[in-house]
Amino acid sequence: MKSYNIAVIPGDGTGPEVIVEGLKVANAAAAKFGFSLNLQSYDFGGERYLRTGEVLPDSATTEMKKYDAIYLGAIGHPQVKPGILEKGILLRMRFDLDQYINLRPVKLLPGVETPLKDKGPEHIDYVVVRENSGGAYTGLGGVMMKDTPNEVAIQEMVYNRFQVERCLRYAFQLCRDLHKNSPWRWLKDEDKAAGKIGQLTLCGKTNVLTYVFGLWERVFHIVAAEFPDIKTDYCHVDATCMWMVKSPEWFDVIVTENLFGDIITDLAAITQGGLGVAAGGNLNPQGVSMFEPMGGSAPKYTGLGVINPIATIMAGAMMLRQIGEPKAAATIEAAVATTTPKMKSQAAGRMGYSTSQIGDLVAATL
Ligand code: IPM
Ligand code: MN
Repeated sequence: MKSYNIAVIPGDGTGPEVIVEGLKVANAAAAKFGFSLNLQSYDFGGERYLRTGEVLPDSATTEMKKYDAIYLGAIGHPQVKPGILEKGILLRMRFDLDQYINLRPVKLLPGVETPLKDKGPEHIDYVVVRENSGGAYTGLGGVMMKDTPNEVAIQEMVYNRFQVERCLRYAFQLCRDLHKNSPWRWLKDEDKAAGKIGQLTLCGKTNVLTYVFGLWERVFHIVAAEFPDIKTDYCHVDATCMWMVKSPEWFDVIVTENLFGDIITDLAAITQGGLGVAAGGNLNPQGVSMFEPMGGSAPKYTGLGVINPIATIMAGAMMLRQIGEPKAAATIEAAVATTTPKMKSQAAGRMGYSTSQIGDLVAATL
């Protein structure tokens, strides 16, 4: 039987409880499709840091390279100053494992409430490809004359062509793969007649950040030449926010730089029902990828069984797709889509079921 090695980082707060449900469902799918998950748990997170003073052992990221994937619950502890765990664990993994794509599907599932008026699952169904290795997250910059009235702070948005190109190529290819069997539903007839199957929107700020987005825009058009079946579009980041609310059906695949992607995917998450359902993958398509619910550790809810595990379950499906089990992934997604209509709400404590009951429902549907 095929077996995959998975590093599990349950993390802090409510992370462990949602990971239990995610694994319940992933294991059920594995049994159904004839493979197994060989799990190894790591205690990285706030508790370990407070106990040992060490955020991440030096060997950690090297050790992670031997796994097929990493499954992460949540990182964040009320007694640890913001930034330490985020930078020391989450961002360190992303950088050391070169997980250069942050893939964030934005899909309104059946029965899930959206704050967008008159919008349904057919309108809110797109994917954000967030560049995950560069930009303002690079850490280049500094502070001078600290704590004086003349203090200067610089934080640079850094990109090299290699980073931009590999991200754009991934996004074009993803768009092609998504629609190879059926063209994007909102594609105009004239575009279909011209042989297009999907649309990739570059989200940038070419009118102000001319150096960085000049580079993105030039490379976008060069790579586009390899993908004549993909319609290209461009939208400034501020306008993207507006259209994500007003006309989300205008988007198929959006590709953008790191910080813009961080911001627009929180907006996107609330339109699809909130952090209880939004999942993401930090991908190194040639290496080890890490999958996580977008929500945080929500410490005040720890142990209450009120957190929605759907995001973690969906992150598990993304993980199975990435390691080469697309049928298991699609089956989990279908089981989730029959579970969400039975839930009262996606918000913590108002779901009509406990965290583990939802895991049971999805696993039983499988
Ligand atoms: C995310 C988070 C992280 C980010 C933080 C926790 C460092 O907001 O995954 O979107 O900014 O990337
Ligand atoms: Mn974020």
